[in-house]
Amino acid sequence: MAESLYLPETDDKASIYEALLPQLVALTKDETDQIANMANVASALKEAFSFFWVGFYRVIGEELVLGPFQGPLACTRIARGRGVCGIAWRENRTICVPDVDLFPGHIACSAFSRSEIVVPLRKGNEVFAILDIDSNRKSAFDDKDIFWLEKLVESVRW
Ligand code: SME
Repeated sequence: MAESLYLPETDDKASIYEALLPQLVALTKDETDQIANMANVASALKEAFSFFWVGFYRVIGEELVLGPFQGPLACTRIARGRGVCGIAWRENRTICVPDVDLFPGHIACSAFSRSEIVVPLRKGNEVFAILDIDSNRKSAFDDKDIFWLEKLVESVRW
Protein backbone atom coordinates (compact mmCIF):
# COMPACT_ATOMS: atom_id res chain seq x y z
CA MET A 1 0.00 0.00 0.00
CA ALA A 2 1.37 3.36 -1.02
CA GLU A 3 1.79 5.68 1.94
CA SER A 4 0.33 8.67 0.17
CA LEU A 5 -3.25 9.53 -0.62
CA TYR A 6 -4.81 10.13 -3.98
CA LEU A 7 -7.28 13.01 -3.61
CA PRO A 8 -9.38 14.25 -6.55
CA GLU A 9 -9.04 17.93 -7.42
CA THR A 10 -12.55 18.98 -6.56
CA ASP A 11 -14.45 20.82 -3.85
CA ASP A 12 -17.24 18.26 -3.97
CA LYS A 13 -16.94 16.53 -0.61
CA ALA A 14 -18.93 13.44 -1.63
CA SER A 15 -16.37 12.85 -4.42
CA ILE A 16 -13.51 13.27 -1.95
CA TYR A 17 -15.07 10.84 0.56
CA GLU A 18 -15.76 8.40 -2.28
CA ALA A 19 -12.09 8.47 -3.33
CA LEU A 20 -10.85 8.30 0.25
CA LEU A 21 -12.91 5.36 1.49
CA PRO A 22 -11.37 2.50 -0.56
CA GLN A 23 -7.89 3.83 0.20
CA LEU A 24 -8.58 3.76 3.93
CA VAL A 25 -10.06 0.28 3.71
CA ALA A 26 -6.93 -0.92 1.85
CA LEU A 27 -4.61 0.87 4.26
CA THR A 28 -6.18 -0.69 7.38
CA LYS A 29 -7.28 -4.15 6.24
CA ASP A 30 -4.04 -5.98 7.14
CA GLU A 31 -3.21 -3.94 10.23
CA THR A 32 -4.47 -5.26 13.55
CA ASP A 33 -3.37 -2.35 15.74
CA GLN A 34 -6.32 -0.07 16.48
CA ILE A 35 -4.19 2.94 17.41
CA ALA A 36 -2.20 2.69 14.16
CA ASN A 37 -5.38 2.56 12.09
CA MET A 38 -6.96 5.47 13.98
CA ALA A 39 -3.76 7.49 13.49
CA ASN A 40 -3.79 7.01 9.72
CA VAL A 41 -7.52 7.72 9.42
CA ALA A 42 -7.13 10.96 11.42
CA SER A 43 -4.24 11.98 9.18
CA ALA A 44 -6.12 11.15 5.98
CA LEU A 45 -9.23 13.10 7.00
CA LYS A 46 -7.13 16.09 8.00
CA GLU A 47 -5.23 16.01 4.72
CA ALA A 48 -8.36 15.55 2.60
CA PHE A 49 -10.54 18.22 4.22
CA SER A 50 -8.21 20.45 6.25
CA PHE A 51 -10.51 20.07 9.24
CA PHE A 52 -9.54 22.15 12.25
CA TRP A 53 -9.40 19.09 14.51
CA VAL A 54 -9.98 15.43 13.76
CA GLY A 55 -9.42 12.57 16.13
CA PHE A 56 -10.62 9.69 18.21
CA TYR A 57 -11.62 9.17 21.82
CA ARG A 58 -11.59 5.55 23.03
CA VAL A 59 -13.93 4.11 25.63
CA ILE A 60 -11.82 3.11 28.63
CA GLY A 61 -13.88 2.19 31.68
CA GLU A 62 -16.39 4.95 32.38
CA GLU A 63 -14.62 7.59 30.31
CA LEU A 64 -13.62 8.54 26.80
CA VAL A 65 -9.85 8.89 26.62
CA LEU A 66 -8.10 10.90 23.92
CA GLY A 67 -6.65 8.77 21.13
CA PRO A 68 -4.87 9.56 17.86
CA PHE A 69 -5.72 13.01 16.51
CA GLN A 70 -4.58 15.81 14.23
CA GLY A 71 -4.90 19.40 15.34
CA PRO A 72 -4.37 21.47 18.48
CA LEU A 73 -4.14 19.95 21.98
CA ALA A 74 -7.43 18.60 23.28
CA CYS A 75 -8.95 17.54 26.60
CA THR A 76 -7.81 14.05 27.51
CA ARG A 77 -10.80 12.57 29.35
CA ILE A 78 -14.55 13.00 28.85
CA ALA A 79 -17.17 11.43 31.12
CA ARG A 80 -20.07 9.42 29.67
CA GLY A 81 -22.90 11.83 28.86
CA ARG A 82 -20.68 14.92 28.95
CA GLY A 83 -20.16 17.16 25.94
CA VAL A 84 -21.06 16.23 22.39
CA CYS A 85 -18.69 13.25 22.51
CA GLY A 86 -20.02 11.85 25.80
CA ILE A 87 -23.63 12.22 24.63
CA ALA A 88 -22.91 10.53 21.27
CA TRP A 89 -21.35 7.64 23.23
CA ARG A 90 -24.21 7.36 25.76
CA GLU A 91 -26.92 7.65 23.11
CA ASN A 92 -25.02 5.50 20.59
CA ARG A 93 -25.70 7.86 17.70
CA THR A 94 -24.05 10.38 15.41
CA ILE A 95 -24.43 13.98 16.54
CA CYS A 96 -23.98 16.90 14.16
CA VAL A 97 -23.72 20.33 15.81
CA PRO A 98 -23.99 23.29 13.41
CA ASP A 99 -23.15 25.86 16.11
CA VAL A 100 -21.28 24.66 19.19
CA ASP A 101 -22.21 27.81 21.12
CA LEU A 102 -25.85 26.74 20.96
CA PHE A 103 -25.22 23.18 22.17
CA PRO A 104 -25.75 22.95 25.96
CA GLY A 105 -22.83 21.17 27.60
CA HIS A 106 -20.47 21.43 24.63
CA ILE A 107 -16.88 21.07 25.86
CA ALA A 108 -14.78 23.83 24.32
CA CYS A 109 -11.33 22.34 23.84
CA SER A 110 -10.57 25.26 21.53
CA ALA A 111 -12.19 28.67 21.23
CA PHE A 112 -11.78 28.37 17.44
CA SER A 113 -14.12 25.41 17.12
CA ARG A 114 -17.49 26.53 15.64
CA SER A 115 -19.20 23.32 14.51
CA GLU A 116 -18.68 19.64 15.19
CA ILE A 117 -19.65 16.11 14.21
CA VAL A 118 -19.25 13.03 16.39
CA VAL A 119 -19.67 9.50 15.00
CA PRO A 120 -19.63 6.35 17.18
CA LEU A 121 -17.42 3.35 16.30
CA ARG A 122 -19.12 0.07 17.21
CA LYS A 123 -18.31 -3.59 17.68
CA GLY A 124 -21.71 -5.24 17.34
CA ASN A 125 -23.92 -2.57 18.84
CA GLU A 126 -21.37 -1.54 21.50
CA VAL A 127 -19.59 1.81 21.17
CA PHE A 128 -15.83 1.34 21.68
CA ALA A 129 -14.67 4.76 20.46
CA ILE A 130 -15.91 7.92 18.81
CA LEU A 131 -14.63 9.91 15.85
CA ASP A 132 -14.79 13.65 16.57
CA ILE A 133 -14.31 16.32 13.91
CA ASP A 134 -14.32 20.06 14.60
CA SER A 135 -14.46 22.91 12.12
CA ASN A 136 -13.52 26.54 12.65
CA ARG A 137 -16.60 27.62 10.69
CA LYS A 138 -20.27 27.21 11.55
CA SER A 139 -22.45 24.60 9.81
CA ALA A 140 -19.47 22.85 8.24
CA PHE A 141 -21.12 19.40 8.42
CA ASP A 142 -24.27 18.13 6.72
CA ASP A 143 -26.01 14.93 5.65
CA LYS A 144 -23.18 14.08 3.27
CA ASP A 145 -20.63 14.06 6.10
CA ILE A 146 -22.98 11.97 8.25
CA PHE A 147 -23.51 9.46 5.43
CA TRP A 148 -19.85 9.13 4.44
CA LEU A 149 -18.35 9.22 7.93
CA GLU A 150 -20.78 6.55 9.17
CA LYS A 151 -19.88 4.44 6.14
CA LEU A 152 -16.19 5.07 6.78
CA VAL A 153 -16.25 3.96 10.42
CA GLU A 154 -18.17 0.81 9.46
CA SER A 155 -15.82 -0.07 6.59
CA VAL A 156 -12.40 0.54 8.12
CA ARG A 157 -10.69 -2.15 10.19
CA TRP A 158 -10.19 -0.98 13.77
N1 SME B 1 -16.10 19.42 21.84
C1 SME B 1 -16.07 18.06 22.32
C2 SME B 1 -14.82 17.80 23.12
C3 SME B 1 -13.68 17.27 22.34
S1 SME B 1 -12.87 18.43 21.47
O1 SME B 1 -13.76 19.15 20.57
C4 SME B 1 -11.56 17.82 20.63
C5 SME B 1 -17.32 17.76 23.13
O2 SME B 1 -18.11 18.66 23.42
O3 SME B 1 -17.50 16.60 23.48
